[in-house]
Amino acid sequence: MKRGEWGIVIGISVFIAGAMMWKGFQTTQSDKKDFKIPFYSTASADVQSKAATVLRRENCRQCHTLWSTRDLLQAVPAPPLDGIGSLKDEAWLFTYLSAARPQDIVPSRLKPEYRHPSLAYLSATERRVLAQYLASLKVEDWYLAEVKKVEYEKLTGKDYVP
Ligand code: HEC
Repeated sequence: MKRGEWGIVIGISVFIAGAMMWKGFQTTQSDKKDFKIPFYSTASADVQSKAATVLRRENCRQCHTLWSTRDLLQAVPAPPLDGIGSLKDEAWLFTYLSAARPQDIVPSRLKPEYRHPSLAYLSATERRVLAQYLASLKVEDWYLAEVKKVEYEKLTGKDYVP
């Protein structure tokens, strides 16, 4: 290589190294912010454990994300259950979980096998405990506001002004 070419190679290397250090610096800076998990439950330990048994037995995570986990082998675009209690109340959830045809309440554009199954066959006690538990799943206000902003900007391409 000629001397001029070495100059270019060294110039580019210095630029890349500088960019990486700047990126690293920014990352360590943002790590200092306190980004806590925005989901929490207000349910008693008793309700939590009873609900967990039903959730597991009925395979809700086959389709839904809950506590940020779900069945990775399935790709059903069901709404996440994390934070659902900030959007729906216990009475609504009980009615929905008891419906013989849930799609009369929340319409679906999915293939029948991916739609939310009727859980009317569960005992009233189990539907009650599920509704109680789901209603207790809350999301922090700042996170909800952030999600609204991101969704709005993604869908409209405009800046979100609250
Ligand atoms: C086969 C996939 C599947 C399974 C299993 C499933 N769901 Fe669903 N669920 C969905 C889909 C998809 C929707 C959105 C409505 C629709 O398309 O039917 C939904 C909607 C819901 C909603 C309403 C959410 C909203 O914001 O409107 C709740 C609550 C819910 N499911 C809870 C549960 C619970 C609790 C279980 C387990 C007992 C469960 N689901 C099992 C697929 C599923």
